[in-house]
Amino acid sequence: MTKPIVRDADGRNETRNGLFSGDNPYDLSERWMTEAWQSEPNDANAMALATTNKAGLPNVRMVLLKEIEQGGFVFYTNSESAKGGELAGNSQAAFVLHWKSLGRQIRARGPVEAVSAEQSDAYFNSRHPQSRAGAVASQQSRPLDARDTLVKATAAVREKYGDDHIPRPSHWHGYRIRPLEIEFWADGDHRLHDRFRWTRDTPDGEWTIERLNP
Ligand SMILES: Cc1cc2nc3c(=O)[nH]c(=O)nc-3n(C[C@H](O)[C@H](O)[C@H](O)COP(=O)(O)O)c2cc1C
Repeated sequence: MTKPIVRDADGRNETRNGLFSGDNPYDLSERWMTEAWQSEPNDANAMALATTNKAGLPNVRMVLLKEIEQGGFVFYTNSESAKGGELAGNSQAAFVLHWKSLGRQIRARGPVEAVSAEQSDAYFNSRHPQSRAGAVASQQSRPLDARDTLVKATAAVREKYGDDHIPRPSHWHGYRIRPLEIEFWADGDHRLHDRFRWTRDTPDGEWTIERLNP
């Protein structure tokens, strides 16, 4: 059973029957994600991922949150893409998940690291051959003269390796965001929303939880 950590200030009532309760923010995120998969029409794991370039200019795009671990949130991409370049220059990111069907959001930010080659291989090899071939063929974020060029390059990868042996390019891998701050938000009547922020000083530190004004 989930330990009720997040309580109202009177210490007696859990907010909204335990909606915000959890032993840690990863279990709580996992629980909200499971509920989102039951109510969202598609891609409940789509999140907006923000990075910055060297000048501090923010950039944002959707990616799929593939793994919620005890310690981090993992997405996969091409490290030679725009976001990959930005993460190489500033290895910190923020993300937000928003589920309209539930009226909830989770936002987080913190340092980012590459996941192990084994973990990236495992996810890469679980993907459809066309997706694996596309990851090899696509020079993500760089100009493309025509769609057909990529279609042909993808077909050539499948032809060259065969569908069971498409190798994961070393520049296509997972990134783990290890938040120092995670906020859980739920829609309330007449804009009286509920917000709880979990913060810690280091990626392995203890969490502090605060209720915030909406
Ligand atoms: C719902 C959705 C999910 C996406 N998931 C991913 C993903 O998991 N990885 C990825 O590299 N791009 C994904 N994309 C494409 C990115 O939004 C983006 O176009 C691409 O990664 C290039 O971004 P960049 O030029 O900022 O690096 C997704 C797009 C959408 C709309």
